[in-house]
Amino acid sequence: MSAEFPTARPRRLRRTAALRRMVAGTRLHPADLILPLFVKEGIQEPAPVASMPGVFQHTRDSLRKAVHEAASAGVGGVILFGIPAVKDGRGSAGDDPDGILQVALREVTAEVGDALVVMADTCLDEFTDHGHCGILTETGDVDNDATLERYAAIAVAQARAGSQMVAPSGMMDGQVAAIRAALDADGFAQVPILAYSAKYASSFYGPFRDAAECAPQFGDRSTHQQDPAGPLEEALREVRLDLAEGADAVMVKPALAYLDVIRRFRDEVDVPVAAYQVSGEYAMIEAAAANGWIDRDRMIMESLVSIRRAGADLILTYWATEVARRL
Ligand code: PBG
Repeated sequence: MSAEFPTARPRRLRRTAALRRMVAGTRLHPADLILPLFVKEGIQEPAPVASMPGVFQHTRDSLRKAVHEAASAGVGGVILFGIPAVKDGRGSAGDDPDGILQVALREVTAEVGDALVVMADTCLDEFTDHGHCGILTETGDVDNDATLERYAAIAVAQARAGSQMVAPSGMMDGQVAAIRAALDADGFAQVPILAYSAKYASSFYGPFRDAAECAPQFGDRSTHQQDPAGPLEEALREVRLDLAEGADAVMVKPALAYLDVIRRFRDEVDVPVAAYQVSGEYAMIEAAAANGWIDRDRMIMESLVSIRRAGADLILTYWATEVARRL
């Protein structure tokens, strides 16, 4: 063979769809997907979220239907967010046994709790009238330690309502330890904690704040969520602390802009790593697709495959049911 022709030909393994499928290094499976769902108290019809086409604030009935659909598509789990009719300064609805999230957890776990994992986001912002993730001091700061007591009570209320996993998302120091101790003391030593370990103060959460009606009334979350420009070591410190406090699985959030953090977590820790493809990631693709600017279905799959390739074992995505059906 003449020297000007290549001897190595990577294209050989790309020649047919069957070859590409066989050698694929990254595979998505429905069981690795977790669907976030919103349930709102006191509404008669599901309410579309304007900035997230295809996503709804559910009624208790439409929530049950959505969870059944996720289960029959083979989705691994759902994570529920509750929007109460009445909010107050301490987020009382968050640990009220009759609060919307607890009611929904009881109904959903009773019906489909064997078919997929039913979990709850454990935070305060959906329940407080000021929209912050914790109890405020007189000067309007989030009081870390007072908030821990609330998170502990909320996690216990969620476990009592049947939540099979709790996911603290507030980025308070010591939240995993506080929740673990409270769950253990209440007889829920078996309920695992999925810790939002590296959660950045991200503009990508914008549409979620419409969906969960939890935009902060003043200020922002940058005194507790991580700075996107912060050192990678900060994320590693957070995840080590969460593991030392008893986290059973850990999360990076958002996903696509933080693939390096996902990869570092996967290399460093020995528990499942989850990544949350957040509301803004969803909205960007849906909006561009609605304009006819991108190939929606391919971009959804490509984004998920990339998150998986970066090292995520589990992916929270608003497309979970749709993608699970497609797989
Ligand atoms: C806090 C919480 C948020 C999200 C999940 N849990 C909002 C925030 O931290 O401001 C965002 C999820 C998304 O954007 O899809 N309870």
